[in-house]
Amino acid sequence: MSPIKIPIEPFKIKSIETIRPTSREERAKILEEAGFNLFNIPAEKVFIDLLTDSGTSAMSDRQWAGLLSGDESYAGARSYFRFDKAVRNIFGFKHVIPTHQGRAAERILFSTKLEPGQQVPSNIHFDTTRANIEVRGAEAIDLVQDQAYDPDAKAPFKGNMDIGKLKAFIQKRDKEEIPLVMMTITNNSGGGQPVSLANIREASAVCREAGIPFFIDACRFAENAFFIKQREEAYSQKTVLEIAQEIFSYADGATMSAKKDALVNIGGFITLNDDSLAEKLRNNLIVTEGFPTYGGLAGRDLEAIAQGLDEVLEESYLEHRVGQVAYLWELMAEAGIPLYGPPGGHAVYILADRFLPHLPRDLFPGQALTVALYAESGVRAVEIGGVMFAQKDKETGEDIYPKLELVRLAIPRRVYTGAHLQHVAEGFKTIYQKKEMVQGVKIVYQAPQLRHFTARFELV
Ligand code: F0G
Repeated sequence: MSPIKIPIEPFKIKSIETIRPTSREERAKILEEAGFNLFNIPAEKVFIDLLTDSGTSAMSDRQWAGLLSGDESYAGARSYFRFDKAVRNIFGFKHVIPTHQGRAAERILFSTKLEPGQQVPSNIHFDTTRANIEVRGAEAIDLVQDQAYDPDAKAPFKGNMDIGKLKAFIQKRDKEEIPLVMMTITNNSGGGQPVSLANIREASAVCREAGIPFFIDACRFAENAFFIKQREEAYSQKTVLEIAQEIFSYADGATMSAKKDALVNIGGFITLNDDSLAEKLRNNLIVTEGFPTYGGLAGRDLEAIAQGLDEVLEESYLEHRVGQVAYLWELMAEAGIPLYGPPGGHAVYILADRFLPHLPRDLFPGQALTVALYAESGVRAVEIGGVMFAQKDKETGEDIYPKLELVRLAIPRRVYTGAHLQHVAEGFKTIYQKKEMVQGVKIVYQAPQLRHFTARFELV
């Protein structure tokens, strides 16, 4: 077998942040104090942090320069106009409304547009999107193709919406019951898998025919567009910018967490065509986020987003970016570690229930694996399984577990090198060799909502 190739960094390093390894004894004590929940561990005690790719990007020299030239005027800042232009160049919608991050965009949109009892289909809603729909008393519906739930299915676009299901869903209801349809690209809650342009076009046509607005959750649009270029034949000769422009041409608007594909540490926006909705969103924004030309951000943040949106579409960057995910995936697959496949755009997902077959779902194999990984190598990952997504049975109050029990290794953008990724894979290999020794966990404290952030566990 030929050795797995390390993707080359299309940048050199100008500023560094020291990371320090901890000892095994120290980590055991830290885990105990953290109630075996990795969210409770100080980041300084983490050697390689793959908790999230959100807000963790390394900014470029040009973004840092942008921070100094940010215009901090309350209204009509120069930085706003630069941001507005950069967003409109890619997304093409008439209105651009800044927010402090993605979920603020979701809250503003849904609290303005949704009524109790309405339903919002998507391929798979991300958890903050779902939560912002549910707090309105509306329902978030996932209509992804079944293959998204099959970790072994080999398909290029496992994030695709099931168009048949979408049509059937719309046909059964009055238009008024469905205020909008969403599409998450890439599909974070389904293995970070991309959606094809053909699927976006079809979903859009179904919505247009029904007269229902179609919105895109665009957090990782550039990674998705790059997969389209690589995997969808008709697009191999287009630039990533052209592909992104075509994606958004089929939509009526988008919500964006700039903390992902705008390569910044904070920020987001809503962008759309509908004048009267935009006016309502701005009025809503003023109450909680700020004046519509800064929306909860500093002028310098808007500069950094504008610059980041330019850099994220560079193909050498994207090749390295999705190359790093594929590299880590291949290192782990080669060692026989059970993975969700194929590799997605921002993260590697481990099938924790297959990795630890001796642990039943009520001993949370995903959480147990994150604990074992930190104990072994100081790497922080996140459980995406029974702890994060169990639903409560309405009668018995017992947990109903989600289909997949995953551990996600989300790779921050432009932060780690191939050697760091090798360290992560080595940690997993060592645990895999003694996997029967990994203990399960039981919950000793949980909050009523989003329990994974603050839950405490004991080893079993
Ligand atoms: N939509 C998707 C698909 C996301 O992945 C996220 C965040 C959001 C919306 C919300 O954006 O964090 O800026 O408010 N995902 C992060 C993650 C937190 O770790 O996957 P936000």
